Amino acid sequence: MEQRFEAPDWQSYRMDMRDPHRQLEPLDNEREVVAAALRELVGRGILAGTDYDEAAFLGFRAAVASSFEIPWTAITPRMQRLIWAINAIHRPRQMLAAGVFCGNTFVSNAGAAVGPGAVYSAEDLVGIEIVPEEAARAERNVRKLDPSGTARVVAADAVAFAAGYPHPIDLLYLDADGAGGRGKGVYLDILEAAWDRLPEGAIVLAHNSVNLADSLRHYLDFVRDPRNMAASVNCAVDGEGLEVSRK
Ligand SMILES: C[S@@+](CC[C@H](N)C(=O)[O-])C[C@H]1O[C@@H](n2cnc3c(N)ncnc32)[C@H](O)[C@@H]1O
Repeated sequence: MEQRFEAPDWQSYRMDMRDPHRQLEPLDNEREVVAAALRELVGRGILAGTDYDEAAFLGFRAAVASSFEIPWTAITPRMQRLIWAINAIHRPRQMLAAGVFCGNTFVSNAGAAVGPGAVYSAEDLVGIEIVPEEAARAERNVRKLDPSGTARVVAADAVAFAAGYPHPIDLLYLDADGAGGRGKGVYLDILEAAWDRLPEGAIVLAHNSVNLADSLRHYLDFVRDPRNMAASVNCAVDGEGLEVSRK
């Protein structure tokens, strides 16, 4: 069964995908919407707390805005904050992000551990993008923020990469649109490929859980089944949505 968190204005809160850094609302609103989503995730046992360093987050946001080449993105400021905060709270040592396009979604996760907004140290944070030119651009973007290489982008099929990844995966972020086949249905293929490396307590994030819920039906049925995941909440902070699940 779906457990849902909704911001009161999730349907009217809209961005211009080609102007992603424009402020859409007072920061107080954005902070409160994300805080309410985080409280819901704590209430469902998915996160251990709601506190995160907002100054570090805003430093991260400014660095992305000034250094990344982003042709378009559907990641709203609220979603960027929610993803960054979940990573800042959960602190994955290893994180995989599947279908990262130009790298904006990947860095919204990885930016909690690398670059000017880093609040903890990670081991290996990998963005996976199947189109080589996009993977190269994402890697160029990420290198500007993280010269260390802890966060890196590989050109690969996320299903194959996840199947062969040799370490525990503390956080898995899903955003691939399944080039050449199953569309967003590929989320479940990637999750299954990663499954035995996801420890108990691992977090799985799935973008587009609201606007593409139909094509994600099999995935959403799986993560909302208590035999598979300890808990799962659909966070409608905006019209795209983020399904947040804990194994
Ligand atoms: C819709 S984009 C994600 C954009 C992101 N939501 C944003 O707003 O910035 C999905 C990306 O997944 C990639 N992709 C599709 N299938 C993939 C797969 N099997 N493995 C890795 N990447 C894949 C596509 O090439 C595309 O760049």
